[in-house]
Amino acid sequence: MKAVIPAAGLGTRFLPATKAQPKEMLPVFNKPTIQYVVEEAVSSGIDDILIITGKGKRSIEDHFDRSFELEYILKNSGKTENLKEIEAISDMADIYYVRQKKQKGLGDAISCAKNHIDGEPFVVLLGDTITQSKIPCTKQLMDTFYRHQSTTIAIEKVPDEKIERYGIIKGSKISESVYKIEDMVEKPPINEAPSNLAITGRYILVPEIFDHIEKVQPGVGGEIQLTDAMRSLDEVYGYVFDGKIYDIGNTVEWLKSSIEIALSDEKVKSELKHYLKELLS
Ligand code: G1P
Repeated sequence: MKAVIPAAGLGTRFLPATKAQPKEMLPVFNKPTIQYVVEEAVSSGIDDILIITGKGKRSIEDHFDRSFELEYILKNSGKTENLKEIEAISDMADIYYVRQKKQKGLGDAISCAKNHIDGEPFVVLLGDTITQSKIPCTKQLMDTFYRHQSTTIAIEKVPDEKIERYGIIKGSKISESVYKIEDMVEKPPINEAPSNLAITGRYILVPEIFDHIEKVQPGVGGEIQLTDAMRSLDEVYGYVFDGKIYDIGNTVEWLKSSIEIALSDEKVKSELKHYLKELLS
């Protein structure tokens, strides 16, 4: 399967940090957010990735490109570990780019991938969402897709106060972690939410989605919503993924993800633990 990573949003929830840099390039511990997303796709067996960018997103392309000057300097100063790490970033996958010309919503951003996708099912990984798990989230979702042969999206239970930030599904449980989705609504007010199961930024879509996006009317925020386009697909399954999801577009979530990921790094773990204990005592 090919993967599509929408990374065209303005990042208004994260201003002023995102005034002059894409939110997808904000570091989480020691890597930009979008590198985690690309690594998740690659470790799920994907080697063809299309990133949907927009105005002001050039640093994403630079990050995944070769950097001859930097490589030359690292080589000459004997920093072989750094050199290996830098070279690996540009060798990870075949990465393609297309620009969304106007900010018209997630559905519109996905429609920019139509020509590249070429009539096959494909994965969508939102560029501002990181997952952490033993088996990559995308791999888990692909396995579920192959079982049901139909659109499959990652869902997660969210607390009431977070409901209006997400697409929310209405569905019935058909196995331990799979729901058959009957309906979904984008960012409902809490009293209109059909459940507390939120759409969390990983999707396996069938190519028919492009026709559905074309037909859909602007929804929440006057934007073409992917959630609205998925409502008219024949069959959609929700998969409660086994692992953790961080929505980086939210400042507190971003901070939490940095701390948790840093705490799993052997080099900084003990110093950080000590610091946090002191801070909270
Ligand atoms: C998008 C989707 C929404 C989903 C969310 C997950 O919203 O439209 O359905 O729940 O991502 O992060 P956004 O965060 O782009 O506003």
